[in-house]
Amino acid sequence: MSICYVNGKYLLKKDSNVSIEDRGLNFSDSVYEVIAFRKQNLLNYVKHINRLKRSLNELKINSPFSNFKSLEIIIKNLIKFNALNNGFIYLQITRGTSIRNHLFPKFSKPNVIVILYNSKDTDHFKKGVKVITIDDMRWQRCDIKTTSLLANVLGKQTAEEKGAYESIQINKQNYITEGTTSNIFFVHSDNLIQTHPSNNNILGGVTRDIVIELAKRKKFKVLEKPLNIRSLKTIKEAFLTSTTVGVVPVIKIDNLKISECKPGLVSKQLMILFKSNSKKQIKNNL
Ligand code: PDD
Repeated sequence: MSICYVNGKYLLKKDSNVSIEDRGLNFSDSVYEVIAFRKQNLLNYVKHINRLKRSLNELKINSPFSNFKSLEIIIKNLIKFNALNNGFIYLQITRGTSIRNHLFPKFSKPNVIVILYNSKDTDHFKKGVKVITIDDMRWQRCDIKTTSLLANVLGKQTAEEKGAYESIQINKQNYITEGTTSNIFFVHSDNLIQTHPSNNNILGGVTRDIVIELAKRKKFKVLEKPLNIRSLKTIKEAFLTSTTVGVVPVIKIDNLKISECKPGLVSKQLMILFKSNSKKQIKNNL
């Protein structure tokens, strides 16, 4: 049994639907968030909600919640109704339902969908993953978390077909932006940590922000500057970050072996720090 939330109603997933004229379906005119929960505690909730508010604002989609407290209640209800302890919340808000027309409808109510997913076993990621490089074919507003993810979908599929976990996107100027579902960090030989700045060319990841905070607290220097593909051969370590997988060491980029195909020490340290930061947010012990 799986219960989800659609426009004010809690329904069985198999009984829930939105209109075929939903603008999310027709134009990807919608935003989303993926939020982790552990032992029924929402992780990094405020950061996710702040990004959601920003995404809505940037796309001029009316907020369906005057007070985001009601969204928190919906999410907590869903966790209880589904009796799920650990997993992910997928939340999508579209501009609404209206006869197909590129122009914003004069009157439309946003469609809100909230679904829960079980967490997957990600233990094997500790050993590190292979990634490949691809051209970044996305638009100029990757900072907005929209469901317009076709380039990301194609990139992720290419990675899978080439036996890799992720595709790392390279822009026209030969700089590495991010993965198709993750941000990427590099560690130089002097332990300087480098990642793309949070601007319109990447999604400012919640995990990315937390990892930067944790690294700085441990006195690592963090440089938020794009890395040129030419500099890849000089890096000591690399790792990916995202809500669904946390911190994941990268051990191979195309044919380039990273830290002798073993997770690097800094990556491992940040992986542990990120895990304990998540644990600190767990209040009860179900
Ligand atoms: N994706 N960059 C992109 C393009 C992403 O799609 C994601 C996450 C991230 C990492 O963001 P965060 O740390 O806030 O999860 C970076 C989610 C998990 C998804 O689409 O399923």
